[in-house]
Amino acid sequence: MAYLTVVDGVKQFVGFRALNGVSISVEQGEFFTLLGPSGCGKTTLLRAIAGFNDLTSGTITLAGKDLRSVPPHQRDIGMVFQDYAVFPHLSVFDNVAFGLKPRKVPQAEIKTRVAEALDAVHLGALAERLPAAMSGGQQQRIGLARAMVINPRLLLMDEPLSNLDAKLRIELREEIRDIQKRVDIATIYVTHDQEEALAISDRICVMSAGQIEQIGTPQEIYGDPQTLFVANFVGTLNTLDTGPNLERMLGQLSLRAPNADTWTIRPESLRLVGEGEGAGPDHAALEGTVAKFTYLGREAHVLVKTDVGELVVQLGAAELKTLRSPGDRVFVLVPRDALMAFDADTKRIKLED
Ligand SMILES: Nc1ncnc2c1ncn2[C@@H]1O[C@H](COP(=O)(O)OP(=O)(O)OP(=O)(O)O)[C@@H](O)[C@H]1O
Ligand SMILES: [Mg+2]
Repeated sequence: MAYLTVVDGVKQFVGFRALNGVSISVEQGEFFTLLGPSGCGKTTLLRAIAGFNDLTSGTITLAGKDLRSVPPHQRDIGMVFQDYAVFPHLSVFDNVAFGLKPRKVPQAEIKTRVAEALDAVHLGALAERLPAAMSGGQQQRIGLARAMVINPRLLLMDEPLSNLDAKLRIELREEIRDIQKRVDIATIYVTHDQEEALAISDRICVMSAGQIEQIGTPQEIYGDPQTLFVANFVGTLNTLDTGPNLERMLGQLSLRAPNADTWTIRPESLRLVGEGEGAGPDHAALEGTVAKFTYLGREAHVLVKTDVGELVVQLGAAELKTLRSPGDRVFVLVPRDALMAFDADTKRIKLED
């Protein structure tokens, strides 16, 4: 049995259903991320697990025990919030020790445990400082140390990096992942940043409008999305215009999917080639004209007008030697295997070989 489970979780607020039948199971030591747009119910689910609000119906278990009758402070769950929630008048040491006060931990043990927690987040040298004199990243490390010092059975983090600048976010997310793996605490992490989710998670749970769209490893979520929502939310997507031109291209590739409503392909699956180059049973070549060229340093995006719509083609560093200008005539190579089809209910259709 999984370490933490939520089964059929429903949260009904007055006039609004924030969670509509959500089930997850998180394994011991796992880094599990809830990913989804604003308002999809991530915080509501996290707060239900922490015990700050009750589910309207459904069950939550931790290590095999039903949590319904366990008050929040007895759940042994550490929580890190988006705003740093540090006490400005307390030293870094006292901020971290705060969580241990109600637990009646002996003074000497408080000292060693706080010191350990501060070392883990690289704040050992700053124990006597006041938080006001510290950066956002350092303040969030205090929050992380405070959550960990209680030796929680589960760590919950609600968008802990969203108030930090981009560079620090990347630095700290690597640190959070390293620390999590070292202390080996099952962690549920909330973010609406897809790249962050891909970078740090063992598994990702993509949510939309109070429901789960898909649960899987980062590779599964990105490479094998099961719904149009997931495909669109994680990564970027070209949607092809339906009509006779698309039918002709699919015919060339011997692709038939009678229930297909939407055909898509990712920009990085497309390539620009010369006339007559690369086409065959596994690749279609679409003639087009460059509408826009966006140079991004490591890569570039070329917007190409074709007879199945405007397609973004992502070029890697190796292909950047020849710059493209609006009006250039080009050929877009479409690999058969990279096309993804979805039905009218936006569910992925498996394409037969
Ligand atoms: N106490 C409440 N009463 C009524 N509706 C609420 C209440 N709390 C949350 N909601 C609604 O439930 C939905 C889910 O909210 P929640 O905070 O879980 O979203 P979220 O996924 O965490 O979003 P964000 O990324 O913006 O933090 C939202 O539409 C919100 O307005
Ligand atoms: Mg939230």
